[in-house]
Amino acid sequence: MASMTRWGLSVAVVAVGVAGWLSLPLLAPPASELQAETGNVGRGAYLARASGCIACHTDVEGKGKPLAGGPPLKTPFGDFIAPNLTTDSEYGIGNWTVEQFARAVRQGIAPDDSPYYPAFPYEFYRGFSDQDIADLWAAFRTVPAVSEAAPAHNLSFPFNQRQGLYLWQNRFSYNADINSDDDRSELYNRGKYLVEVAAHCAACHSPRNLFGGLETTALYQGAESMFEGENQVPAITPQALKQNGWTEADLAYALKSGVKADGDVFGGSMAEVVKDGTAFLNKKDRDAIANYLFNRDD
Ligand code: HEC
Ligand code: HEC
Repeated sequence: MASMTRWGLSVAVVAVGVAGWLSLPLLAPPASELQAETGNVGRGAYLARASGCIACHTDVEGKGKPLAGGPPLKTPFGDFIAPNLTTDSEYGIGNWTVEQFARAVRQGIAPDDSPYYPAFPYEFYRGFSDQDIADLWAAFRTVPAVSEAAPAHNLSFPFNQRQGLYLWQNRFSYNADINSDDDRSELYNRGKYLVEVAAHCAACHSPRNLFGGLETTALYQGAESMFEGENQVPAITPQALKQNGWTEADLAYALKSGVKADGDVFGGSMAEVVKDGTAFLNKKDRDAIANYLFNRDD
């Protein structure tokens, strides 16, 4: 069954790839004018943790230097490698402007106007404010340069054809509801921002359609993992969490300790989400994530 779904996905992405190839590059949405905010390094570093930038762009196990490039993300399309984001001007992003950085992170578009693969979760990051971008940028400017390119992606045809991504970005890219809900608490809204934007929990916990677009009617209902060697990603809807014996407090604690409500530890990619991401969050933010996930409208 699992292989059936993957096969379906691959066939469909081939179709998108070919269609994208044939269609003229569609125009990317206009960049919002970035206000000249002053970035805060501490806030940026914290946000980079919460958002997984450090986890994906650092080869922690291979003892790689911070943000010098990630370990291979093994998917059915091939291996994606998160590139060098250090201040090196040749192999990193040292000579980028903050506007180029904003466009890459919020819109998935490179300085040379080519589209990025959604393995880089910019679909979710479009909810970053100008201040968030300025903070991230300030933090990234402090990262020591590493004068070595991260390895190239190793993708099979047609996934190695970037042109297909123009179509994908325009048709299938996710647009989360990221507005604060006025009738909800501050804690809930902070949790909403962390879950929907920064920590992009939906990226793994929601099913995708045949074109790799997030199924917006089935958010957080669980999915087949995109990563090699992993099977099912569990549902984390309020109902599923309660059925599986979670409480809000257990969940907040698990995001620090990696220990689940049933006493077992998280495995696979979730173990990394915790170890290199949520474990660094302060208690209020972990409580906020749990509060949002337990109280969202299903
Ligand atoms: C799930 C893994 C993952 C996470 C999390 C992630 N990235 Fe990436 N990132 C990638 C991959 C893979 C690419 C390469 C995309 C491509 O080649 O199309 C990339 C590309 C980039 C680029 C373009 C670099 C270049 O040389 O063109 C920037 C900038 C970037 N990421 C910044 C960030 C920031 C900032 C964050 C956190 C807010 C982040 N990334 C989080 C995987 C990730
Ligand atoms: C990179 C993919 C990925 C991301 C991003 C991710 N998860 Fe997970 N999550 C998983 C996988 C895989 C599992 C199954 C882990 C296991 O088998 O131990 C899981 C399991 C869980 C569980 C256990 C559910 C149960 O009943 O067993 C919870 C709760 C959870 N994740 C919450 C979150 C939250 C909150 C976020 C965002 C902060 C998040 N996840 C982001 C992949 C992910």
